[in-house]
Amino acid sequence: MTPTEQSAKAAEICRLAPVVPVLVIDDLAHAHPLAQALVKGGLPALEVTLRTPCALDAIRAMSEVEGGVVGAGTLLTPADVKAAKAAGAKFGVSPGATERLLDACAEYDLPLLPGAVTASEVMALLEKGYTVQKFFPAEQSGGAAFLKSIGSPIPQVSFCPTGGISLKNARDYLGLKNILCVGGSWVAPKEAMASGDWDSIVALAAEARALR
Ligand code: 3PG
Repeated sequence: MTPTEQSAKAAEICRLAPVVPVLVIDDLAHAHPLAQALVKGGLPALEVTLRTPCALDAIRAMSEVEGGVVGAGTLLTPADVKAAKAAGAKFGVSPGATERLLDACAEYDLPLLPGAVTASEVMALLEKGYTVQKFFPAEQSGGAAFLKSIGSPIPQVSFCPTGGISLKNARDYLGLKNILCVGGSWVAPKEAMASGDWDSIVALAAEARALR
């Protein structure tokens, strides 16, 4: 899958809702009800970070939830890409980008949202054909003001910013022309997951859905 094709698919997924939940799943038993709650609240695109031992199994379990589009986040190596694809991930997200990671996404046909935070990084990915990129860590790297500024010289790249985004500042990003959606963990608080309070996660998702 070429970078251009990957970005076309990534754009489609990013346009499904204003927010992509960024999920850290510690307990596999949470995966299915969590996906159900988020999809029910109106957030179909879900990023499961490969930061916990059960993450790949969580992707498998969540992929069974109707209406969900489950991807893998925190892709760092070609092995991560291969494993994510095998688990059924429909897209991948990486905090940055390396040649080996990009090659693996082409080889395994996984649409990637690669990370960039400087003009040169954005340009290097654009040169390859990635017109949709992740901006991470967003708040720490200049936030919405940075993205607004970079949209002037490089309007052909659209972003999904993540890192430090919540209900409070999401609108600052979503109002910009070059933002397709934002990512964030605030819609799936650890305490709600631990106590099985799926109704409150449905409510948080619905609130996020209504941001745009
Ligand atoms: C991450 O990869 O941790 C995401 O960017 C989520 O960041 P957040 O927890 O600040 O929303």
